[in-house]
Amino acid sequence: MLVLAVKPQIIKEVMAEVQPAVGAQTLVLSIAAGISIKTIAESLQTERVVRAMPNTPAQIGKGISGAVGFRITETDSKVADALLRAAGDVIWFETEDKLDAVTAVSGSGPAYVFYLVEALAMAAMRQGLDTGQAMRLARQTVIGAAGLMEADSQSASVLRENVTSPKGTTYAALQVLMGPQGLEDLMDRAVTAARERSEELGRT
Ligand SMILES: NC(=O)c1ccc[n+]([C@@H]2O[C@H](COP(=O)([O-])OP(=O)(O)OC[C@H]3O[C@@H](n4cnc5c(N)ncnc54)[C@H](OP(=O)(O)O)[C@@H]3O)[C@@H](O)[C@H]2O)c1
Repeated sequence: MLVLAVKPQIIKEVMAEVQPAVGAQTLVLSIAAGISIKTIAESLQTERVVRAMPNTPAQIGKGISGAVGFRITETDSKVADALLRAAGDVIWFETEDKLDAVTAVSGSGPAYVFYLVEALAMAAMRQGLDTGQAMRLARQTVIGAAGLMEADSQSASVLRENVTSPKGTTYAALQVLMGPQGLEDLMDRAVTAARERSEELGRT
């Protein structure tokens, strides 16, 4: 198996370099963002390609990858799945265009969560907490909530409802977050912008 995990800017150069080593027995797996299966297949003069989009929690085995196979055998998909699973969960898709949505959701997603921590910390400071306290509270809240979600198979909605007493404090905040032009609308616009940018990068 040949794993392509270099920056998209240099991938064509790297593919030209390794092409002589690619034969009918080689399965190619690329994680390069925005580089199409067609480009990979043409550059390497091969057909068996898996294109995947992992995310950075892969570094601690808690990533999730979207993957698409092109002219691969059942064994190929098992081998590629096993390799990707070393870095976390894997979802297989039928068509390559779905990877633009995957990029916008899970590929870029960790940054959205880091920004959520920053925004929560900024709100904490506006409530009179100092910078260090605000950061600790916000950061550990996200770590703790993610841990709870990992330990509990219930849906995010149920976990949210469990901590939302009728007319309580969480309820008051969620009225704002879930209101018109709230987080759902904002997230929809953010993910759409990322997907459009991913499509654009794929064309260049
Ligand atoms: N980071 C993510 O969450 C993420 C998610 C999805 C997809 N990707 C894709 O993953 C790829 C790698 O991203 P990254 O952030 O991990 O980049 P990175 O940290 O810069 O890693 C690039 C790797 O490529 C190696 N490399 C550079 N030039 C090479 C060459 N000529 N021949 C062979 N290997 C070479 C580097 O080795 P040296 O260290 O020895 O230079 C390094 O291990 C990109 O295509 C990116 O689009 C990343």
